[in-house]
Amino acid sequence: MATTSLTRRYQFSAAHRLHCDELSVEENRRIFGKCNNPNGHGHNYVLYVTVREAGEPTSRARTDVEALDRLVQELVVARFDHRDLNRDPAFIARTTTGENLVLLVWDLLAGNVPFGHLEKIGLVETRDNYFEYDGGAVSTRERI
Ligand code: NI
Repeated sequence: MATTSLTRRYQFSAAHRLHCDELSVEENRRIFGKCNNPNGHGHNYVLYVTVREAGEPTSRARTDVEALDRLVQELVVARFDHRDLNRDPAFIARTTTGENLVLLVWDLLAGNVPFGHLEKIGLVETRDNYFEYDGGAVSTRERI
């Protein structure tokens, strides 16, 4: 029996500002650079959701893919598209880095995918920034 993965691609546009309240103005500027700009900035994020499933690849029903699309649309895209990520409840005590965003998307989708199991979340933030998470261990410190 073959085990295959399906990756679907989604997009959303959102604003954010990289800033940590526990750091000084100078430290924030040094660590986050121009991403600490008080007026914020935006990204056209591209999200890759990969679901792994054992079984014949041809047996995957079209309705499964549609159900996955609906889930990602409801839980992720609708939540973040054309929003300020810094105002999202999940980011009250956490910086809106790409790393934290993939962790949050994983938490929102893992356990909810309509078939197989969630294998990986990929997130393109800029031409040169790509983040991904596959469910591995995350320490408390890394989540700050
Ligand atoms: Ni940014």
